[in-house]
Amino acid sequence: MTVESPQNGSVASSTGEPWWRSAVIYQVYIRSFADGNGDGMGDIAGIRARLPYLVDLGVDALWINPWYPSPMADAGYDVSDYRDVEPRFGVLADAEALLREAHEAGLRVLLDIVPNHSSDQHPWFQEALAAGPCSAARERYIFRPGSGAGGDEPPNDWRSVFGGRAWTRITEPDGSPGEWYLHLFAPEQPDVNWTNPEVEADFEQTLRFWFDRGVDGFRIDVAHSLVKAAGLPDLDGRTYPASPGQPTAAEEPHPHWDRDEVHEIYRKWRAVADSYADPRVFVAEAWVERPERLARYVRPGELHTAFNFDFVRAPWNAAALRETIDSTMAEHEAVGAPPTWVLSNHDVTRHLSRLGRAPGDEPAFNLDDLIGRPLDLDLGQRRARAAALLMFALPGGAYVYQGEELGLPEVEDLPEDALQDPTWVRSGHTQRGRDGCRVPIPWSGTEPPFGFSPDGAQGLPWLPQPASWADRTAERLSAEPDSILALYRSALRLRRSLPALGDGGLRWLPSPDGALTFARDPGFGCVVNLSAAPVPLPAGAELLLSSGPLTPEGAVGPDTAVWFATGD
Ligand code: GLC
Repeated sequence: MTVESPQNGSVASSTGEPWWRSAVIYQVYIRSFADGNGDGMGDIAGIRARLPYLVDLGVDALWINPWYPSPMADAGYDVSDYRDVEPRFGVLADAEALLREAHEAGLRVLLDIVPNHSSDQHPWFQEALAAGPCSAARERYIFRPGSGAGGDEPPNDWRSVFGGRAWTRITEPDGSPGEWYLHLFAPEQPDVNWTNPEVEADFEQTLRFWFDRGVDGFRIDVAHSLVKAAGLPDLDGRTYPASPGQPTAAEEPHPHWDRDEVHEIYRKWRAVADSYADPRVFVAEAWVERPERLARYVRPGELHTAFNFDFVRAPWNAAALRETIDSTMAEHEAVGAPPTWVLSNHDVTRHLSRLGRAPGDEPAFNLDDLIGRPLDLDLGQRRARAAALLMFALPGGAYVYQGEELGLPEVEDLPEDALQDPTWVRSGHTQRGRDGCRVPIPWSGTEPPFGFSPDGAQGLPWLPQPASWADRTAERLSAEPDSILALYRSALRLRRSLPALGDGGLRWLPSPDGALTFARDPGFGCVVNLSAAPVPLPAGAELLLSSGPLTPEGAVGPDTAVWFATGD
């Protein structure tokens, strides 16, 4: 439980723990949250106007996706200036005003730092292109001569996450075919060279730039990729995560994912965060192979928290979820860090649509793995409601991805000419990518843009909204006492008032197959029924909140979760 504070500060929870150990953090995907200036793209003015909504929802903090100047080759994850604001989103003064207003409203604000790569339009990269081989400017990136006759082949066999090879060849200033540069993502996102002290110093300056302006912390983009193996060895068929029979990253370090050396960087970043009177916090985006590898990022003296993607990947199945919860908690406990729980974000399919697929036990967080599998929206809705109560009842922090509180599904049928994710082009138009979870939020009204843009706006939303979202607007759901929005609000209100919730531990209680029942002290219990049969509430349980109606006998129905007071 967090004590609200009008100030940005070192406010602890009522149990004396720092706020971030139990925070519910709302992910604002800025392009799609709220459009203040009517150009069809979300912006800082839009966020400022919607702060009351977030306060009312009951979250503790916001994490805002990159808002820096960017040519938008990857929706802002290609940063051309780390210490300013993208003109389409506003100006620095707007950012400062947002920080002030959010703090006044008792909300903390995390930004998103992108340290693995910059934009190819970043002055450093432009300088590197102009300066030629072996120059200091090239040393800020990862340039290499090609292999093969005439250097026509890339330096190694690494692949881009978005498809195709991870290397692009440049033309040298004298017009000759030149070196190659590494980009683990799009060609417009050259990887920077973290063995160069100048890179390290520059990112430290960026951290301080925003911390000095009151930013409470950072989400670290692809936190597990910064350090590459010396000599850049080939993958030689190695996959990540490791396929059966291959060595895991723990057994034999992967050439560019989750290498142990990356932790040295975060120990230094932690010292920067701790140097502030109100210490600032970090959350790692690290898609690693196992909970034990994730926990390494949150060891004492390193980062504060890390997204728990095992929870995203877990199927809707009691045994699998319990194993994920147990292993997550054990590994985090071993290093004294709080776990986090997350169901959706801007990179994976919306969980309502994942969970609405029968039989529901095959995890699929890429849209292309879902398309063609029949979708039962009502089932997805019921499970999404139950999943939210599970998530908010678990020990530690939780993340809400904008729109999940409105029960938004993945938009699976965006017209091809609307798709903007680089994955679509890089995969040769075979993978639709992540746009389906990034469609602008419906706020009000009965037709697009559903209040996303102001009345009379010139621009259309940057991705088209389905007409069916008329019944998913925040305005409409606010008026329905049983809506998913009402459920989120009730759950977050209770979470603040119940001392058992947030940071701490849990005890599993006996439960029929296919259900999860646990208690948290003092006096709280949760049942999640993932089976097809009703599950009775434990004796003496007093209902606090339910994700759906109980059965006429007062039992917990299929795909339903219940919070109860245990009476002890
Ligand atoms: C992270 C971001 C994703 C982005 C990628 C490259 O995974 O969440 O959206 O495309 O990094 O920066």
